[in-house]
Amino acid sequence: MAGPPRDPARRTAYDALLAVDTEGAYANLIMNRLLAERGLTGRDAAFATELVAGTSRLAGSYDLIIGAASGRDPERLDRPVLILLRLGTHQLLNLRVPAHAAVASTVDLAREAVGPKITGLVNAVLRKVAAHDYRSWTDRLSRGLAPREALAIRTAHPRWIVDAYADVLPEAELEPALLANNEPAPVTLAVRPGLAEVSELVEAGAGPGRWSPYAATWQGSPAELAAVRQGRAGVQDEGSQLVAAALPGPSTSSGDVDPWLDLCAGPGGKSALLAGLAKAAGTWLLAAEVSRHRADLVRSAVRGLDSVEVVVADGTRPAWRSGRFGRVLADVPCTGLGSLRRRPESRWRRDPATLDQLVPLQRALLHAALDAARPGGLVGYVTCSPHRRETVEVVEAVLAERTGVTTVAAADVLAGAGLPEPPDSAAGPYLQLWPHRHGTDAMFAAYLRVD
Ligand SMILES: C[S@@+](CC[C@H](N)C(=O)[O-])C[C@H]1O[C@@H](n2cnc3c(N)ncnc32)[C@H](O)[C@@H]1O
Repeated sequence: MAGPPRDPARRTAYDALLAVDTEGAYANLIMNRLLAERGLTGRDAAFATELVAGTSRLAGSYDLIIGAASGRDPERLDRPVLILLRLGTHQLLNLRVPAHAAVASTVDLAREAVGPKITGLVNAVLRKVAAHDYRSWTDRLSRGLAPREALAIRTAHPRWIVDAYADVLPEAELEPALLANNEPAPVTLAVRPGLAEVSELVEAGAGPGRWSPYAATWQGSPAELAAVRQGRAGVQDEGSQLVAAALPGPSTSSGDVDPWLDLCAGPGGKSALLAGLAKAAGTWLLAAEVSRHRADLVRSAVRGLDSVEVVVADGTRPAWRSGRFGRVLADVPCTGLGSLRRRPESRWRRDPATLDQLVPLQRALLHAALDAARPGGLVGYVTCSPHRRETVEVVEAVLAERTGVTTVAAADVLAGAGLPEPPDSAAGPYLQLWPHRHGTDAMFAAYLRVD
């Protein structure tokens, strides 16, 4: 970059979006890095963050609008030009930036970041984009299309994700559920049981959680709180807290001091909660994670807790005796379709074909979790996805392949653990949370008892 940028917030957003698009960077991570490197804070940092998150989330629909406004296939535009047009389109159609400012600032940015040759094109296309609002653009683009296709454009989701949501939600809830993915998730914290109390966070200005007794909501940066800086609390979605906090379930008659196992522990949010709960129950937690780097993240998440051991291990090739653990959590790798609001670019990167690789691994991990549990032990199978193929269908396929395993209704597990059952969260005997219903990620949990 020659000299300091004229508009550091927009320039930072452009650089981040280019890295997301061309280098496979994660929007949240690259933004944290660029904001720190460039010393952007306050309103500039908030504006740049919104530009990147909003532009990334709606990119698929913005490309259709840019295609219609430019008369060109957006895929054939140079990537820097497409990124600039998406950035301008987001300001024109979904932010309260006056049209002349959105166009002029994007043209200036185009000149600075790419060169003078493209300013005419950027100016002309954005003026055409500015002729309609977002709703009338998506209405125009949807004319004559099937309702689901139109919904995909209006809510800016790939069609296969709309179909996956439609498989598990009533038709009337489909649009609110998809639109909830376009709202940033609130910052939710979890205290580590035994190391901090929610009351400490509330006294510091946090709000109480809705479903988890360990949760608090926070408006600012989590690092402003001493409990977070000291590792006595961490950032964790409330649905993630609830599915893990339920695992102790109803107490069983014998053997309750057997250790617990977290089979897929990285980066460690649920391990931190479970380690505290295991200690309170008079036992300890083995946290297993296949990736060395992510196992280090688990170690960091559980620092200060003495009731946990972290190991690098492939859960499908157990390094432990079978039938040993009183509680087992299998929070398996999944598509993450339930946490799209947290990962702005992810909906456009995911591909239904990834399920063909994930499902066999998910089944193998659930089998391994059941093998690891002692008779009478409780296993939780968890995904941050509502997709039927990786939730109900995995559980039912594994149940069909085994004897001696009983499904325990999630409502009974929650009640046994002294936790509330969020309304409309039952999916048969399983738990399915939703952002638009519960304000949590769309976590799925099935609880199974080994006879
Ligand atoms: C959904 S994440 C778990 C999130 C974690 N429970 C938490 O709350 O922070 C799934 C994890 O499983 C790990 N994993 C994938 N395959 C595995 C395997 N065969 N054995 C153990 N862990 C595995 C991934 O590296 C990833 O860290």
